[in-house]
Amino acid sequence: MKKSRAWAVLGFLATASVGAAAPPTNQEVDQRVEALLRQMTLAEKVGQLTQAGAFPGMDPAGAVRKGAGSILWLNDAKQFNAMQKVAVEETRLKIPVLFALDVIHGYRTIFPVPLAMAASWDPAGYEKAQAVAAREARAAGLHWTFAPMLDIARDARWGRIVEGAGEDPFLGAAMAAAQVRGLQGPYAGSPEHLVACAKHFAGYGASDGGRDYDPVYLPEGLLRNVYFPPFQAAVKAGVGTFMSAYMDLNDVPATANRFLLRDVLRGEWAFKGFVVSDAFGPANLVTQGFAADGKEAARRAVEAGLDMDMASNTFGQHLAAEVEAGRVKMTVIDEAVRPILGTKVRMGLFENPYVDETKTAAVLATPAHREEARRAAQRSMVLLKNDKQALPLKKDGGSIAVIGPLADSKADTEGSWIVFGHVPSAVTVLDGIRAKVGPGVKVTHASGPAIRRDIPSFFEEFIPGLKKPAQTPETAEAAYQEALATARSADVVVMVLGETAYMSGEAASRASLDLPGRQQELLQAVTALGKKVVLVLIGGRPLGVTWANENVPAILEAWQPGTEGGHAVADVLFGDVNPGGKLPVTFPKKAGHAPLYYARTLTHQPEGSQRYSPRYWDGAESPLYPFGYGLSYTTFAYSNLKVAAPKVALGQTATVTVDVKNTGAVAGDEVVQLYVHQRTGSDSRPRRELKGFERVTLAPGETKAVSFRVGAAELSYWSTSQKRSLQDSAAFDVWVGGDSTATSHTEFEVTQ
Ligand code: BGC
Repeated sequence: MKKSRAWAVLGFLATASVGAAAPPTNQEVDQRVEALLRQMTLAEKVGQLTQAGAFPGMDPAGAVRKGAGSILWLNDAKQFNAMQKVAVEETRLKIPVLFALDVIHGYRTIFPVPLAMAASWDPAGYEKAQAVAAREARAAGLHWTFAPMLDIARDARWGRIVEGAGEDPFLGAAMAAAQVRGLQGPYAGSPEHLVACAKHFAGYGASDGGRDYDPVYLPEGLLRNVYFPPFQAAVKAGVGTFMSAYMDLNDVPATANRFLLRDVLRGEWAFKGFVVSDAFGPANLVTQGFAADGKEAARRAVEAGLDMDMASNTFGQHLAAEVEAGRVKMTVIDEAVRPILGTKVRMGLFENPYVDETKTAAVLATPAHREEARRAAQRSMVLLKNDKQALPLKKDGGSIAVIGPLADSKADTEGSWIVFGHVPSAVTVLDGIRAKVGPGVKVTHASGPAIRRDIPSFFEEFIPGLKKPAQTPETAEAAYQEALATARSADVVVMVLGETAYMSGEAASRASLDLPGRQQELLQAVTALGKKVVLVLIGGRPLGVTWANENVPAILEAWQPGTEGGHAVADVLFGDVNPGGKLPVTFPKKAGHAPLYYARTLTHQPEGSQRYSPRYWDGAESPLYPFGYGLSYTTFAYSNLKVAAPKVALGQTATVTVDVKNTGAVAGDEVVQLYVHQRTGSDSRPRRELKGFERVTLAPGETKAVSFRVGAAELSYWSTSQKRSLQDSAAFDVWVGGDSTATSHTEFEVTQ
């Protein structure tokens, strides 16, 4: 078939199959992909496996002209269209380009960071948030986002803990599926949505010492039972793409890890999309001491199941020669190209390659989107302490000092991983409080000494608004004294402390969990004034606020709450919203206790036993705040915890019910959590594992019956002793309550 004719056939298929409403069928996609593949030269195929960077100093337009399949880190509709024009008019086969960017927690309307979204324990809310992010980003010309980040993180020192859903595989899997649904819509390629990317596969959160990029050693049982479930949930939810992780997993870089990319992802989970490396992944194989040179790196990565090279051009430089030399089979290349072309077909890019620049502005940061972001932020806040009802505050009368380096910082309120999102309209805590109180309340502000990383982040170099003002010890001291004086002359002090946006995130691990800079000193000095002090924490990781927990009457974890964050904080501080978020991660008292997580196996000296001795003699390792924890302005009582039948057969489902009552005076949300413990079995099993949760809203005095189904999916696990997935017949403890230390207990037995 002549080329022009072949294209006409493709064109026909396009109009016939890609209507506005119905997605193309798999068969239609396959036919078009095969027709295209048959015409492609080796160089054109390798081009599709290349994602070129639009980082400073790079030439993305040139890369498109040479046939690059995708571009990352461009964010300009005009440039998208100009480059797409080159791709669809000037390249031989007119294959459109996929434009990709990290749209992590919003595009223009910024939502709370992922760890905060997980603290909402509200998958439906997360789905909505990501749908807003996708709608905005797609309207701006993007096709593909490097989200969701699904790395389980149990070490508060690891900076990227902010990007995921925390420490728990069950919560992580629920949030993973919700994000994929929100970002992608009904299928990978839906209009007004983005293609999602499950990253970083896999184990990245378990780096030694919480040090970013350091090696990860995870036995297969832990990988499969803890680190894989969110990724598998993303596959089940239809995620279009995966990203491999940077680090070595058990001494094999994830970028070229056949076990991960072929055996598990394609083999066991039947994933049909494509895998992109993390930035510069193939070239890193040489730096990591795995491959001798670019040729070997390209060959080993593609053979292990990596389809697209992000930004290193190692595939671009070497793959064709490797094929021509007979070291890589053409079938391996074809296999990598197919899902990339398939994604473009499904997205309708052959028919509609361009973004309508005239329509973008109307979609960005609409009042409805901002309302959604405010609601998400409200639902993500966790009330950590509230002695003697210090909160809520009164809206009328008196004066409030809003103190701290994060009280009026837009960039730090929006949080980590924004890239291009900062807008002057972001609402800080100071803005939110000012907007909330009546004219009778005097609001004053002083930031105190600025805080900055000892070693700057590379993000701070190119993201606007992140660089902190230069400060000498003298100006810092003056700022400190001003903050103290401002606090002294107010009735109530709201201290807004924590970490700046890029004190967490990539390359943002810490050896300490203390409040950075002079914040702790300032907090202590302000507390000593004897005023009512409320601490609002802004940040992307558990902070070791042990002193504050003992000395400050009220603490609100606001995370990095996004564009509407300041309004949401004020909504909670003044009682218009009753906080109902719960911690998705354990808060250790200090960095030396990390990694600390609730789902550990029992030891010969279990906590509460006669022989129990704390694990450290210089202070017990019990958490500052446990996983699942969070207070409310009301109280809840649990009763009637029951399992429908005391015994269920293997493979059958136990139904657990409980009544939850709002026993206080205001309406509120409770996250009802179910934990199980398998008492004995093929392997030792964690002392507690989350296996169900539901966030419910209760009016004062109202009772709701909540029920959970615990079946084979929840009770099976990958057994190290048996080297396979199984379900044991065993006795199970069940606890239901408002956090991972819940005391309402029942039990059931799984029988043969
Ligand atoms: C990060 C990824 C990110 C990529 C592209 C890398 O440094 O690890 O999470 O998606 O850059 O921006």
